[in-house]
Amino acid sequence: MKIGILTSGGDCPGLNAVIRGVVLKGTTTYDLEFVGIRDGWRGVVDGDFFPLTRHEVKGLSKVGGTILGTSRTNPYEGPRGGAENIAKTMYGHRLDGIIAIGGEGTLAAANRLANDGINVLGVPKTIDNDLRATDYSFGFDTAVNIATDAMDRLRTTGDSHQRCMVAEVMGRHVGWIALHAGMAAGAHAICIPEVPMSIDEITALVSKAHDRGRAPLVVVSEGFTLTGMDEAYSDKGLDAFNRPRLGGISEILAPEIERITGIETRATVLGHIQRGGSPSGFDRVLATRLGLHAADAVVDGAWGQMVAMRGTDIVRVPFADALGELNTVPLYRYEEAAALFG
Ligand code: F6P
Repeated sequence: MKIGILTSGGDCPGLNAVIRGVVLKGTTTYDLEFVGIRDGWRGVVDGDFFPLTRHEVKGLSKVGGTILGTSRTNPYEGPRGGAENIAKTMYGHRLDGIIAIGGEGTLAAANRLANDGINVLGVPKTIDNDLRATDYSFGFDTAVNIATDAMDRLRTTGDSHQRCMVAEVMGRHVGWIALHAGMAAGAHAICIPEVPMSIDEITALVSKAHDRGRAPLVVVSEGFTLTGMDEAYSDKGLDAFNRPRLGGISEILAPEIERITGIETRATVLGHIQRGGSPSGFDRVLATRLGLHAADAVVDGAWGQMVAMRGTDIVRVPFADALGELNTVPLYRYEEAAALFG
């Protein structure tokens, strides 16, 4: 069998480790042939493929980004898009199936294509950890480590000036990165989308920490809303899926905290460094295991499904299980962390 591999949506540390895992197991154990698909669904629509052998994937588990390139192209858009055209393109290149490595948008497109008769299976990825059907997605652990390191650094500069530091992390509409990095760094307040807070609640925690002689650290998720705000803060327009591009809430909070508490306050938006560089050891192992299991799934003809992590096992779940609702932070996890605030 000849299988195409693509990475789609925002990049994420561990994508290359998945590709390596699939190709190594697929070629050595099963004698599968692989092609790389350039730039996500764009490459499927345009038939932009190149041979992917053991040689191309050597040493890749530690390399960030994706050797395949990525895009946020919708495979149903454009004159060459749609299941019928894609089936023709695949037939023309003797392609038997596609492994799509991506987040919610990618898996939704994969689900639609699978329902339209295309052989496609999925591998979930996202630093946000917002996919329901997998306990953890690779990329998340790396993002948390990067954010924790950044916060440790913010704390030493904050301590030196007795300032309040507000650190903004990614995560879209879930607060996993903020919760984990904030807990790891000993934040005095963690603001996540699942739990709106008023500015008075935040400043009370800031003042409490400051009164004890601490330089307060506030961690805020980009999707956080102050009580009464209808939507997450966004001033950057829409992304390719017409979703608001988030980011910037810390710049709103910092001057308000300073005004109300009188404590000098600075905001730092960590941004895309959370997605860059080498994956952590945990993410390399998780991504590699997902890749190995994706090769097994191809041989079993498990199209229309994705590989996922349940506990410490890798399992297969239908695409539909991963879509719809987000994997949000449960209240008990927030309350656990809140015992350390202030
Ligand atoms: O979904 C991953 C993510 O990094 C989000 O946390 C963030 O909101 C978004 O992607 C940023 O997207 P882009 O790379 O298109 O700016």
